[in-house]
Amino acid sequence: MGELKMDVQNWIKKIHSPQVQEWMNKVYREADVKDQTLRYKELFSRFIQWSGTSHFLPVRAPGRINLIGEHTDYNHCPVFPMAVNRDIIGVFSPRNDRQVRVADFIPSFGERDFHLSRQIPPHRSGDWANYIKAAVQGLIEEAVIPSEEAVGFNLMIHSQIPPAAGMSSSSALVVLSALVFLRVNNRTMDKKDLADLLARAERYTGTQGGGMDQAAILLGEAGKAVKIDFAPLTTSSFPLLSDYEVLVAHSSVEAPKTREVMDMYNRRSIECRLAAAMIAKNLSEDIRYLGDLPSSWYCNDEAIRENLDGILKTEGYSKEDLCNSLSVTEDQLNKQWCYRKDGSIFPEPEEGYLLYRRASHVLSEWKRVEESHKALSENKIALFGRLMNESHTSCRDNHQISCRELDRLVMIGSGGGAAGCRLTGAGFGGCTVHLIKKKDSDSYRKYLLEHYYKNYLKITDGDSLLFPVKPSDGAAIMEELFNE
Ligand code: GLA
Repeated sequence: MGELKMDVQNWIKKIHSPQVQEWMNKVYREADVKDQTLRYKELFSRFIQWSGTSHFLPVRAPGRINLIGEHTDYNHCPVFPMAVNRDIIGVFSPRNDRQVRVADFIPSFGERDFHLSRQIPPHRSGDWANYIKAAVQGLIEEAVIPSEEAVGFNLMIHSQIPPAAGMSSSSALVVLSALVFLRVNNRTMDKKDLADLLARAERYTGTQGGGMDQAAILLGEAGKAVKIDFAPLTTSSFPLLSDYEVLVAHSSVEAPKTREVMDMYNRRSIECRLAAAMIAKNLSEDIRYLGDLPSSWYCNDEAIRENLDGILKTEGYSKEDLCNSLSVTEDQLNKQWCYRKDGSIFPEPEEGYLLYRRASHVLSEWKRVEESHKALSENKIALFGRLMNESHTSCRDNHQISCRELDRLVMIGSGGGAAGCRLTGAGFGGCTVHLIKKKDSDSYRKYLLEHYYKNYLKITDGDSLLFPVKPSDGAAIMEELFNE
């Protein structure tokens, strides 16, 4: 890549320029711009101390919240998220060898390094650096950057996305690392193609997820929520109503994607693909994902029920049931559906695979996504809010991805005047999103602090778990934003 043009003095000047300050006003909350300016400058100086080089590039990847469309993406059904002001920023420089060295601004997270190769072995499951490896491995594996030509990088990051909270801190790190790896190897990629590739690449970490996070993080737009459709990936953006805001309230239950939560998440993905296989077999049609079904399958609740009733039973399916219904051997069943990334077989759930419930959730959520973006563009906020509430109920009862704390928080929120509220992201803990009138923001915050954090959780530092988010721009390397 050669020597970088801009050094620390240039960047400090740039950060204070009207151009960058204006950009910061767009991607961050106005009240935060001063602190954000400081944050970048502190990261610059820490990077110089750590890496020994004062020529570098800054990069940013936002977190995301999902307004509606939960656990639909891995079925190729649409989602309606927005990239937000909470982000990961990084500072990086190219290396002229094949090492990748990364460090967190917060020293206790430690440093990681690894060597570039055709097959990069993962760190232990759950390690944060696996998300960096996932991006690098994905770009090498799909021959965007051939392994033998690739050079490494030094990267220091600072994150303001709460971890294990359903705001995609992991995918933000995947996206940020991919942008860095592409840049130091002088490669560019169309953002949609990159989002698609990174959705596949993140499976390196063991999740059988969809493509919402990577697409929202790359294609987010300031001031707007983005409806994303899959296969092929397309986006359309809708401005959030100016007198409303989205408040994030963390349940305080962390849901890190360790083996247990990963299994709970992957189980839903497996059940949905099994439901699609059962439908395909019954109709003798080529349906691999629930998203391959026509709109007559999800246009209203009655249609969903009628269609599913004839094909799926409401009780759980044992592996034996599935083998019989799909005419496959247990070995074929395991190989095609019930496996983990490490090659082990996915254990049969005690109550069986709940195909009817999962398909019901996905199809009804698909309908809600279609109705909700229409409602937003027609200023029908009450309808939009109702769809958010219904989504939570379906996430709780049919997809079973909620927990006691999330349910309590949503119940309190609904009683406190939110237009709509629901869990956001993978679930099993993490955050909720509350759509509220801007003018009611302060009193609503106080209400949640009192009723959820103080009275229910019995904690006094609820303030840090409650914050408004602003729809923000997608990930980018800074030089791309300010090319003169
Ligand atoms: C996680 C996954 C996404 C999506 C959501 C749930 O964030 O990474 O692909 O499935 O959960 O909607």
